[in-house]
Order: sequence, then C-alpha cells, then structure tokens
Amino acid sequence: MNIIITGGAGFIGTHVVRLFVNKYPDYHIFNVDKLTYAGNLANLKDIENKPNYTFVKADICDFDTIYALMQKEHIDGVIHLAAESHVDRSIKDPFTFARTNVMGTLSLLQAAKLYWESLPEKYEGKRFYHISTDEVYGALEMTHPEGIKPPFTTKASSGEHHLAYGDKFFTEDLKYQPHSPYSAA
Ligand SMILES: NC(=O)c1ccc[n+]([C@@H]2O[C@H](COP(=O)([O-])OP(=O)(O)OC[C@H]3O[C@@H](n4cnc5c(N)ncnc54)[C@H](O)[C@@H]3O)[C@@H](O)[C@H]2O)c1
Repeated sequence: MNIIITGGAGFIGTHVVRLFVNKYPDYHIFNVDKLTYAGNLANLKDIENKPNYTFVKADICDFDTIYALMQKEHIDGVIHLAAESHVDRSIKDPFTFARTNVMGTLSLLQAAKLYWESLPEKYEGKRFYHISTDEVYGALEMTHPEGIKPPFTTKASSGEHHLAYGDKFFTEDLKYQPHSPYSAA
C-alpha cells in the first residue's frame, strides 16, 4: 500500500505521518508538502530515515507533479491535510486560500481520478480522505454566556479544563455557514 499524506509537515499532518510510518511498516508513506511558513520538517526528525517514508517537496496545485508522482509510486490512497489554515491570514490574503484549499484539492482529486481510472482494478481498494474543519458550519450559539461550571467543562489538549459556553454540537447534517475565507475555502 502506497499512501500520499499532504501537509505532512504541518501541525496535524506531522502526527498523522508519524502514526502511519510507525504503525504500518508495510505501507510506504509519501509526505507531500510545499513547506510554507506553516510547515516544519524538524518535527519529523525521529522518522525521516525510516525505509517506508519519503518526503516530497511539492505544491498540491502543481497537477503535473502530483499526477506523475501517483503514476510513478503506484499510489493507493491519499490523506489530504495540506491547506492554508489560519483564519486571520485568510481575511488579509483570500487568494492564497482559494488557490491552495480549492484549486489544490481539485488538482489532487483530478490526479487521483485519472490515475485510478487508468488501472485495471479502477477504484477497488483506493481511498481519498479530505480533512476539513468544523468551522464550515459557522459558530455555535453560546447557550451559557457565563460558562458552565464543572463538571461540564471541556478539556483542552494541554490538559487544562475550560468553562464550556454552550451545550450545542455541530453535526454533519447542518447547513454550511462559513464565516471567513478560510472556512469557505
Ligand atoms: N489545527 C486545527 O486546530 C484544525 C482544526 C480543524 C481542522 N483542521 C484542518 O486540518 C488540516 C491541517 O491543519 P493544520 O493545523 O495541520 O495546518 P497547518 O497550517 O499547520 O499545516 C498545513 C501544511 O500544509 C502545507 N501546505 C500549505 N499549502 C500547501 C500547498 N499549496 N501544497 C503543499 N503543501 C502545502 C504547509 O506547508 C503545512 O505543512 C487543514 O485542512 C485544517 O483546515 C485543523
């Protein structure tokens, strides 16, 4: 199994790449990342010499490079995390967000479609996962503006407990209500 993970030098992608490289020694992981200001390969030092790991510096918008990589490396799956991901930057520079998040995703989808349709087995055993954000659904109502006291707190990744300001959740059947160029893209 050969898998492309895009954005593998980013905040979340780094962990996904490390997990796959360590957990699935029989899979080959290709980390495709342009290394924008948000990418940092230093976070993958511990796995960079593993035999089932290859870093490819590339822009996901570069269809020819992505398509050639899929053909050359016989890619079976794509886990797509490469994105422009910071809300404030998206308000100042929406073009970069539309380019990477919309056109870059389209470039990956089209390369995967064309490559997989060219194979005798076609889509059998092939997967394309696109990581999105709950921000596509907009903002949750603050049903308790003063915060809910313990034990109804939320736990942050740092381990700290924060007061929860509402008891509503996003679900996948809600309408999209993006509030920024980031979440729209
Ligand atoms: N961080 C969060 O809290 C969070 C929450 C929900 C959803 N997400 C989603 O998860 C995904 C990853 O988020 P993150 O926080 O790891 O982002 P990040 O900004 O930390 O990393 C993005 C990575 O993508 C790379 N990249 C950017 N443009 C590229 C391009 N054109 N071609 C190739 N590589 C490119 C960057 O170099 C970087 O390594 C995004 O889709 C984001 O919307 C993140």
